[in-house]
Amino acid sequence: MTNEISQAVGPDPHSCANPAEVRVTHLELDLTVDFENRKLKGSVTLQLSRAEGSTTLWLDSRLLTIHSITSEKDEELAYTLAETGQAWKGESLRIVLLSDTQVVKIEYETHPESPALQWLSPSQTDDHQHPFLFSQSQAILARSWIPLQDGPGYRFTYSAKIKVPKGMRALMSAPNKSGLSSTGEYSFRMPYPIPAYLLSIAVGVLDFRPLGPNTGVYAEPGVLSVAAYEFAALQSMLETAAKLYGPYRWDRYDLLVLPPSFPFGGMENPCITFVTPTILSGDRSLVSLVAHELAHSWSGNLVTNATWNDFWLNEGFTVYFERRIMEAIEGAEYAKMLAVLGWQDLQQTLKEFKGKPDATCLKLKLSDQDPDEGMNEIAYEKGYLLLCKIESVVGRAAMDKFLVQYFEKNAFKAIDTEGFLVQLKELLLTDDKLWKAVSPEAWIYKPGLPKSEKGPVSARFEAVQQVLDIQLKKGELPTPAITRGWSTHEWLHYLRGLPKPSPIDVLTKLDAMFHFSSSGNAEISSAWFLLGISSKYYPMMESLQSFLFRTGRRKFIVPLYKSLLNAGFEDEAQSWYAESRPNYHYVAQATLDPLVGLPE
Ligand code: BES
Ligand code: ZN
Repeated sequence: MTNEISQAVGPDPHSCANPAEVRVTHLELDLTVDFENRKLKGSVTLQLSRAEGSTTLWLDSRLLTIHSITSEKDEELAYTLAETGQAWKGESLRIVLLSDTQVVKIEYETHPESPALQWLSPSQTDDHQHPFLFSQSQAILARSWIPLQDGPGYRFTYSAKIKVPKGMRALMSAPNKSGLSSTGEYSFRMPYPIPAYLLSIAVGVLDFRPLGPNTGVYAEPGVLSVAAYEFAALQSMLETAAKLYGPYRWDRYDLLVLPPSFPFGGMENPCITFVTPTILSGDRSLVSLVAHELAHSWSGNLVTNATWNDFWLNEGFTVYFERRIMEAIEGAEYAKMLAVLGWQDLQQTLKEFKGKPDATCLKLKLSDQDPDEGMNEIAYEKGYLLLCKIESVVGRAAMDKFLVQYFEKNAFKAIDTEGFLVQLKELLLTDDKLWKAVSPEAWIYKPGLPKSEKGPVSARFEAVQQVLDIQLKKGELPTPAITRGWSTHEWLHYLRGLPKPSPIDVLTKLDAMFHFSSSGNAEISSAWFLLGISSKYYPMMESLQSFLFRTGRRKFIVPLYKSLLNAGFEDEAQSWYAESRPNYHYVAQATLDPLVGLPE
């Protein structure tokens, strides 16, 4: 089969596709966005590359209604929609090809409950006037809005025609044009091959503000200037990243600030990263999240994990790259603070997975499992530490040279963990001594961390630690004079370092002094709420309830609900969840339903 752009390394356990027989090389979407019925409706035309003797095309789909399937000659093609037996896998769409079929056109529509799509009513947006739609395709939700080969190892280019109500804007993971269409019709062309999980769409009343020659930000009109302030350094961040690991290959890099129900911090959709508004802190202190999504333009989007079992190749590399960007911009001490907070998260995750050592290996074994349930923090922070370990053995110059080569050599391709190990040996850890000094196989195939790992140290956090020690030993609380100049990160270290529970009178005084309960910084709020819940600090409960109602970011709300349940606030957890659940995206609901319980 001659198909240069799409390749996978082996079978993908989470896809029904038969890529050895037929590959999809290009998608052409023609969709109408129907807010009233909460449906995308139209067609997708797939261009195929077929192996000799191939007879059927197997696609992934989930909750799609298929109306007809035809060839380029308008011949009806026979098809079946076979159950996979697993809800997360969806249905296998099997299309019988004629001997000369090279193009297949599928007329279809999505289900109102499509897991990839969140349809927001006007009251769930900033302006309260217009509805909003956004997609989230990672890990395997793309199949619930387009029938396609849904595995990270299968790449294709795409073009799209999208029709939306007049006055609204459509954005996709392609180089977007900033103009507003007068007819409500938008067209897109993504010339670089991407995997399905990076396909995305958003539709809303959105404005655009350029931030540099090829960067800018989209947001609802009422959010745009705050967002433009927060991300003012986007262009220089992009240039910093390109200086580290090679040219930016995706033309534009824009941000889209979504409504607060977005279930993630960020999603690295090519050309247009989707971000949560919870990083709009007003002081630019949470922009490392943008550095992270930007870094995915190399690790992940350019060089892609072959299957979700190799997820750490996407996220571990990206965390490493993110912290290198932040180090270049803000200095080494800043990056160290991020590393220590990450280490603390990792320790927490390792504790939670005590009875499940397999989940703490870098290489995952998620064959019969929804990958969304098996992908966790380990990929991020343990993956990061492995790359730091390699750097410490070979030195930074050699590390950087390797990474530039790695991104260049594997650009627009998928790689699995074993392929990475081969290249690591060939290009970097070339002799046995170096290999042994790192022992990458232990990191990758064994649970937990190597015993010798001590974790990063931050001088700025040591200073915070002294304040904590004085408070804990002598009962002297920090004063605003002492904490003047603390960044969000130092506050997080402080709040995480307080005992759970802490005495109510301590929390009362701290709240009076530092106004945590009414903080506009979601990271600080959530650390404070966790402390307050375990301490049964009632005065903050109202702000907590409204935070949970407003915010759909899973990283915040899941620990908060868990903590409510653990501290004996079952009634609050359940009634607040019942009230807030309609504001949450499918993936957040899927995590929380079994934890908190479905509302009656
Ligand atoms: N690609 C991920 C988000 C993701 C992972 C979505 C797995 C679906 C399945 C994104 O790059 C990410 O890691 N986001 C983090 C922020 C980051 C700074 C660690 C998040 O959303 O919190
Ligand atoms: Zn990421």
